[in-house]
Amino acid sequence: MRNLDFDEVEVLITEDEIRKRVEVLGRQITQDYPDGELVVVGILKGAFIFMADLVRSIHRNVNVDFLEVSSYGTTAVSSGQVRIMKDLKHPIEGKHLLLVEDILDTGNTLKYVVNVMQQRDPSSIKICCLLDKPARRETAIQCDYVGFQVPDEFVVGYGLDYAEKYRNYPAICRICPETIEKFPKNGRNS
Ligand code: IMP
Ligand code: MG
Repeated sequence: MRNLDFDEVEVLITEDEIRKRVEVLGRQITQDYPDGELVVVGILKGAFIFMADLVRSIHRNVNVDFLEVSSYGTTAVSSGQVRIMKDLKHPIEGKHLLLVEDILDTGNTLKYVVNVMQQRDPSSIKICCLLDKPARRETAIQCDYVGFQVPDEFVVGYGLDYAEKYRNYPAICRICPETIEKFPKNGRNS
């Protein structure tokens, strides 16, 4: 099997570890939520694979919706300027909202999203992040469910990209500095 660019990564979290952790998160979420409508919102694009696995581990009725958010920056570092590129399809007023994000890095993206969502009067807002990189936090933000903590390194795979590459790699990996030099970034994180 050809791996093309994929040979320049080093696996940090294996497919098996991800699968087991996602099942635990799904069980916790299933137990924690009271009756009432639960809307699970995936933040595109990075959360799309995590979201697909997570909702299948939640054993109650959920509605699924997506929000596409971009944070602009010229390097592997987010700039803190957040924009909604695609909004939710349905209102969330009076419903439980669970935001599903790929990685909590500076916290700026989720801070912005939570502020926007709060104005729409959901009955609750919780956050589920696959990865948490606490070393880089700029904004205090509390995640209700976290998959794994990762070191202060750029990680890819299982939905996360570098310059739109590696999203389809099935494990979470670190990319080496040579890869960052090889593929210049287009300046947007999502
Ligand atoms: P924030 O810095 O917490 O606002 O994160 C912004 C976005 O940058 C995240 O939702 C990811 O899409 C992206 N991002 C941050 N760190 C990484 C990383 O290590 N790998 C891939 N994407 C990242
Ligand atoms: Mg993201």
